[in-house]
Order: sequence, then structure tokens, then C-alpha cells
Amino acid sequence: MPRSPDHADNPFNRDNLLTLARQYDGPVWAYDAQIIRQQIDKLRHFDVIRFAQKACSNLHILRLMREAGVKVDSVSLGEIERALVAGYQAGEQSDEIVFTADVLDAPTLARVAGLKIAVNAGSVDMLHQLGAVSEGHRVWLRVNPGFGHGHSQKTNTGGENSKHGIWYSDLPLALEAIHRYNLKLVGLHMHIGSGVDYQHLAQVCDAMVAQVIASGQDIEAISAGGGLSVPYQPGGETIDTQHYFGLWDNARQRIAAHSGHPVKLEIEPGRFLVAESGVLISQVRAVKDMGSRHFVLVDAGFNDLMRPAMYGSYHHISALAGNGRPLDESKTLETVVAGPLCESGDVFTQQEGGKVETRALPAVRTGDYLIFHDTGAYGASMSSNYNSRPLLPEVLFDRGEARQIRRRQTIDELLALER
Ligand code: LLP
Repeated sequence: MPRSPDHADNPFNRDNLLTLARQYDGPVWAYDAQIIRQQIDKLRHFDVIRFAQKACSNLHILRLMREAGVKVDSVSLGEIERALVAGYQAGEQSDEIVFTADVLDAPTLARVAGLKIAVNAGSVDMLHQLGAVSEGHRVWLRVNPGFGHGHSQKTNTGGENSKHGIWYSDLPLALEAIHRYNLKLVGLHMHIGSGVDYQHLAQVCDAMVAQVIASGQDIEAISAGGGLSVPYQPGGETIDTQHYFGLWDNARQRIAAHSGHPVKLEIEPGRFLVAESGVLISQVRAVKDMGSRHFVLVDAGFNDLMRPAMYGSYHHISALAGNGRPLDESKTLETVVAGPLCESGDVFTQQEGGKVETRALPAVRTGDYLIFHDTGAYGASMSSNYNSRPLLPEVLFDRGEARQIRRRQTIDELLALER
């Protein structure tokens, strides 16, 4: 949830946001490093915090994570290269990078094998492909326990409708492949979806214990995956990280007792570490009434912030006066907030399935700004060039300074691949 824009110690105070908006003359992502560090500290009980960089893969954010002692998860060749450039170490002795995927394409397989990066296998085929070229490679098994959970069907990563992981009853096939290629099993991993629900979590922990025992293998570690939610809605639930850790720690202890030695507990969050650290600043470019609806159109679209169009996700929206006239915050209008794309679904106030909703906002005019909050996770990292719109710049507020960590893509860069 957004902090007060009136606090000078909040980097996202009115003055800073306005300065940024004017300086960039177009939509811009901004992050607050302090929030990221605070979120990391809430998870320090875990032996390893591994950042699911798909949530926000900017190199400078990755460096911040590395400096704070956070390891990294990569899901593509591009994410492996990002981790390396950010300073993460690969190699047989390093557990800094883990590659988690459902598929190993040929170039990625060659790089993973060459760098000896541990692979979290999401299918038995992956184990055969890896084993054939890299005997003795370190692997994790990502187990699909047969059920899942998510804030949307699209983020549910367990159960029979999910493509992820190795189906729990196929564990013997995975172990057979491990044996055949002399692969080194590090541990078992379960990520069943984004958006934690404690009732489900107890089930996941039980399933993890059962799977480890069923495997009959001696493992070093278990991974709880990601999925910790953040309060996007005003008054939304804040996860109790102590309680969350307690449930997993209990599972870990049962596994350690069974194994007769300590077992490390990893966690792999994306959203929890970065969502609340980010905002997207956009400018109001058109205001119009159509039938009973009041529309405000801004210069950022779903190619920039995809979550509302993709999942009906809620992002808190606040208004900032930008044209010399203060906003009357005492009166609000039920407003549909939309973007510039040539597509009807380019609406930020919608439910999953596309039903258009409204948000109570002060009466803004062209030149004012709308700020989308809690966009640090799956914001910039999910952006696209749809409608031939360049990727937006990113700015990091850290220790009193605002630093550009990505410049705006140019139209020339966008066309370069086709010239
Ligand atoms: N680990 C694995 C194996 C994952 O697949 C994911 C997310 C995570 C960790 C991190 O999940 P988190 O802690 O961020 O919930 N684009 C969607 C979320 C997709 C998540 C995909 N996997 C969104 O904007 O909500």
C-alpha cells in the first residue's frame, strides 16, 4: 500500500514524483531501494532467500539483491546472463544461481552445462537432456503435488491443469533418470502458485515431507518456492512471515529428523521482495464522458503495466496535480482509467475476464498525473513493444538519490532488428 505522499522521507513524495514526471516527459517506473531491503529483512529466518528475478530483472535491482546476500533464480538464458552480469557466480561450487524451467532449449542447455549451474527440473525429459551432456550435474526436482493455488488461474502453478513441475507420482521416473546419469540431487522444490493461503500452505508442507520420504533420497535442502502475497488493496492482508516461516520450519524439521542431518530451507519470492517498492508514473492525456462513464486516458498502456488486463489485478491509483492547478481531493468521480493502446482491453480498472470497473478519483485534467502503486513486481519485466511503443525508463531511489537504472528505449532501437 502506498505511503503518504506528504512525507519528505518517502522517496515517492509529491515533489519527487513531480520532478521525475517532468524530467522524463513520459511514463517512468520508479523503485525505492529501502523498501526492497526491508522486505528482504523480513525473510532472514530462511537459510537461503532466492529472488525470482522474473518479477523485476533490472541489473541494478539484481546487484542490490546480491549485495544484500540474496541469491537468484533464472528461468531463461537471458535471466542467466543477467545474473552473471550482476555479479552472481556460477560453477560447481556455487549455489548462487539456480535455473528453474519446464523446458531446456538447446542454447540454454549448452550454457547451463558449461557453467555448471544447478537445474531445478520441471520435467523428467529435462533430466535426460541434461544428464546426456553433463553427467554428475546438480539438480533440484520441482514437484507438482497434485494441487495448487493462485491469485488467478493463470498464476496457479500446481494441480493437473498446471504445466509446471514433475507430477508427484512420477517421482520414481525422475529418480531413475538421476541414477542413470549420476546426477547429484540437491533437493526438492514446490512452488504451487502466487498468492499464499495458509490452509493450502499446511497441505504443501505435508506434501513436501511426504515426497521427500517417498523419494528415499538423502537431500541437502528443500525450497518453499515463492508465492508470498502483498496487500495490493487498501486494508489488504499483510502476510505474517513469522507464521509462514514456522510452517515451513516445521516441515524442514520433520524432514531433518527423517534424514538424520540438518536440511537447508530456501525460499524463492519475487513479488514479496519488490512489488511494494515500485510505482509507475503516467500523465493524463485525455478526459471524456461517454454515456454514463467518466474516462481518464493516460500515456501508459497495458504494454507497460500488463497485470490489470492480464489478470484483472488491482493496483492502487493516486492522482498528482501537474498543470499548476491543485486537485480538489474532497470530491471524487467514479473513473474508468485507460491507456493509449488501440485495443479496448487497455483499461487499468477491470476485473479478471474484462468487466470494466471504476475507481473513485479526484477530477483530473490533462497534464495531471496518475500514479500506479505496487508495480515493482511483474511491471517493467512484463512490458512489451505492442503498438510499437518503446520500453519505459526505470529510476531507483536509494540513500536520498534518484538514479536512472534504465533509459527509455528509442524508436530506432525498436526498428533495428528489422532493418
Ligand atoms: N518460483 C517459481 C518457480 C515461480 O514460477 C514463481 C512465479 C516464483 C518463484 C515467484 O512467485 P511470486 O513470489 O512472485 O509470487 N505475472 C504474475 C505472476 C506470475 C508468477 C510466475 N511464477 C503476476 O503478475 O502476478
